[in-house]
Amino acid sequence: MAENDSIDETERPYGGVENPDAPKRVRIRHFGRAKEQGIRITGLTSYDVLTAQIFDEAGVDFLLVGDSAGNTVFGYDTTLPVTVDALIPLTRAVARAAKRALVIADLPFGSYELGPDEALRTAIRFMKETEAHAVKLEGGVRSAEQISKIVTAGIPVMAHIGFTPQSEHGLGGHLIQGRGDGAEQLLLDAKAVEAAGAFAVVLEMVPSTVARRVTESLSIPTISVGAGPHCDGQLLVWTDWAGLTTGRIPRFVKQYANLAGILREAAEQFCADVSSGEYPAAEHEYQE
Ligand code: KIV
Repeated sequence: MAENDSIDETERPYGGVENPDAPKRVRIRHFGRAKEQGIRITGLTSYDVLTAQIFDEAGVDFLLVGDSAGNTVFGYDTTLPVTVDALIPLTRAVARAAKRALVIADLPFGSYELGPDEALRTAIRFMKETEAHAVKLEGGVRSAEQISKIVTAGIPVMAHIGFTPQSEHGLGGHLIQGRGDGAEQLLLDAKAVEAAGAFAVVLEMVPSTVARRVTESLSIPTISVGAGPHCDGQLLVWTDWAGLTTGRIPRFVKQYANLAGILREAAEQFCADVSSGEYPAAEHEYQE
């Protein structure tokens, strides 16, 4: 499909490499169409050019340069210390590598809470300096004005409600959100971000029955991060998904590989080969 072609009813906008009709570039309009057609949207985080290229070629629909880089790249205990200056080069690398996937820049803690003007200033900085296609920010009702201001300026926004890691201290830790009376608040948050103009909303660590209610109540797609199977798409932090993260992995993550094991074994073999003289061998040498 040419980029500016309209989408006809029979077109399947998603499906990546499996689908010859998949768009050359995923746009936010494809998210809405995917929900209408019941086609599940896929997303992974990415923080560098090499993984972005692989995930893009594999057909992942969107790449989030998450502030989870605070944990996965910079080694902090939380996402709170991550700055805009730290995320900009990572986002630029991912945006340069992705030929098809929609690239989303995560606005870090402290870059949008002061109000809509600050939020728009940060979003503009990401769009100008990284060539990302959209931004994401956390919060429902409390962030609605920020979302509206950014969207009005022509920048697409993915919202993020439920467990919002930037508020982990306020929320009292990594706790499932939307249980009991919390379900009504979650619905209010979802409605608020939709009304503010978000093109999709991440639901993180929410009971799947509640996520289903939210998904059925919204016209924009819901993206699950630990919100069960009834959402319109699924997103995972790539290092958890690929088994590179060591330590505790959340229950909702399915690990598709054991990269930590593979790399550890390779590094041990390298050390053994160097110490035994097995490496470098003749084929690795340059001759005069
Ligand atoms: O930063 C991130 O990776 C995220 C996802 C977990 C939603 O916000």
